[in-house]
Amino acid sequence: MVQRAALVETRNVSKHFGGVDALQDVTLAVFPGEVTCVLGDNGAGKSTLIKILSGVFPPDSGELVIGGAPVHFANPRVARSYGIATVFQDLATVPLMSLWRNFFLGNEPTKGRGPFQRMDTRRAKQVMRDEMAKMGIEVRDSDQVVGTLSGGERQAVAIARAVYFGAKVLILDEPTSALGVRQSGIVLKYILQARELGRGVILITHNPHHAYPVGDRFVLLQRGRLLGSYRKEETTVEHLTEMMAGGAELKELSHELEALKDIPAMAAAARELAAEAPEGT
Ligand SMILES: Nc1ncnc2c1ncn2[C@@H]1O[C@H](COP(=O)(O)OP(=O)(O)OP(=O)(O)O)[C@@H](O)[C@H]1O
Ligand SMILES: [Mg+2]
Repeated sequence: MVQRAALVETRNVSKHFGGVDALQDVTLAVFPGEVTCVLGDNGAGKSTLIKILSGVFPPDSGELVIGGAPVHFANPRVARSYGIATVFQDLATVPLMSLWRNFFLGNEPTKGRGPFQRMDTRRAKQVMRDEMAKMGIEVRDSDQVVGTLSGGERQAVAIARAVYFGAKVLILDEPTSALGVRQSGIVLKYILQARELGRGVILITHNPHHAYPVGDRFVLLQRGRLLGSYRKEETTVEHLTEMMAGGAELKELSHELEALKDIPAMAAAARELAAEAPEGT
């Protein structure tokens, strides 16, 4: 079997903040044309991992590897120069700017030379429309202010921009966490498009139901450690949910809430938790 080369790898990466082991010995590889989902509960180390991958800070130990050789990201600009683009949930777009300005954010195409050089607005709008169309979105008005788009559409603009500017690895931190079912579906569709274009995608999420349909590999983090790493055929959405929730802990919590059942809201919460906890725990 031919093993494709990874686009980027972390090898035994650790990061500590004071006494907290935010990451401990985490090894993972991202392959072209694949979606790697990083799953974990609050505080598991997901954001820390992507900050290391996007050059926000270096690991305390372990290394980042690109094309088989170790690399050092002194800052996010260096990570971007290696083709690693990160889309953060809230900082991805500028609400008061138009769609097309958001798409280029200072990298607008120009026309003319020397002192006559100026922004090629027409071309910029056309490129933005074409790129959005590739992602399956028809732009009605390129001057529309991004703040008036839905959350899912804003994410789509950020993803399309990263793909257009040559991202080989696209990192998305919780792109669906603030979105409803339909909007999440839209974002997940763009993730699949980026995969079809041969990009490596890292999808950070709490939600196995969002991860499973689009993911090729699943990496589970728990309190900074790698709990497991699976290819799609090695796992199921139920298995991922159970691993993430720590089935036994959920059951225990539902018992504790049950003890407070005279308070109606608590009884309802207990029933919900009991329903979510996996069988036999
Ligand atoms: N800059 C920092 N200073 C101190 N502690 C930090 C810092 N960043 C993260 N941590 C700690 O490291 C651990 C992992 O945090 P991280 O943000 O990576 O988790 P996460 O998996 O992204 O969680 P969430 O799902 O809530 O976003 C947490 O215990 C957090 O408190
Ligand atoms: Mg986080």
